[in-house]
Amino acid sequence: MNSKVLEEIQEVVDFLDKKIPFRPEVAIILGSGLGGFASSLKEQFSIPYQEIPHFHSPSVEGHEGKILFGKVDGIKVAALQGRWHYYEGHSMDSVVLPTRALASLGVHTLFLTNAAGGINLKFQAGDLVIIEDHLNLMGDNPLTGKDSPLFGPRFPDMSEPYSHECIQILETAAQKLKIPYKKGVYGGLRGPTYETPAEVKMLRTLGCDMVGMSTVPESIAAKHLGMRVMGISCITNMAAGIEKKTLDHKEVQETANSIIQVLTTWMLEVIPKLTKESPLSFPSTNPLKR
Ligand code: HPA
Repeated sequence: MNSKVLEEIQEVVDFLDKKIPFRPEVAIILGSGLGGFASSLKEQFSIPYQEIPHFHSPSVEGHEGKILFGKVDGIKVAALQGRWHYYEGHSMDSVVLPTRALASLGVHTLFLTNAAGGINLKFQAGDLVIIEDHLNLMGDNPLTGKDSPLFGPRFPDMSEPYSHECIQILETAAQKLKIPYKKGVYGGLRGPTYETPAEVKMLRTLGCDMVGMSTVPESIAAKHLGMRVMGISCITNMAAGIEKKTLDHKEVQETANSIIQVLTTWMLEVIPKLTKESPLSFPSTNPLKR
């Protein structure tokens, strides 16, 4: 990470710190069509991305471009309504800037959501899938570049990319609420094209259950910083070649919208359980002034 990146994160943190009513403990990134969750936060305070230094307004429909601060049963939450992606031409450092800034504000758990194409033939559109692991197939990594020992190790451990404890919390909540769910491995591709049928077969052979164009960079950057990471994919469509139809972003948004209420109910049950259990290396090693 070069010093310019560090300066940018510092500017975001300074800006938010002056504005926000409280420092969040849990951050949620809401994927395509999934921004609707944010309206269920209590004591809401929102800031459009345009006002935040180095934030980008997402160019993709279904990503609103606002950060909301609010509470769920007293837990302080930051919810990002939409993200910007690598395929939009942003650098990996830019894609993970919100993750790094939120860690610096004290967030200990990052809850990632996304819209994804189903690869596993047992999946269907509308399924909610707990992310158990991922394959980074983006051809890049947010930690590429100069070592930043104050942020985390040069070679971060990725043996538990998605917290087992959080997966257990998600499963217990889903069972209590009788919400059907699946578990799977997310393949993160660069996009922006949807996959070809041959690529979908390849991804299945490689062990992917679902595929998308986000999540992996945030997960890597968050693990580097010592955060706990968890995630849910919303299967908005079966990936190319599985069904006899073409794919488009409208279908992705429509399916996401149809599942958002169930997802919201699930998340509202889970968030109060995400209290910080174990001491994390961050922010004691946080290089940013606070
Ligand atoms: N492929 C990649 N990304 C996606 C898909 C898909 O089929 N659906 C939603 N995001």
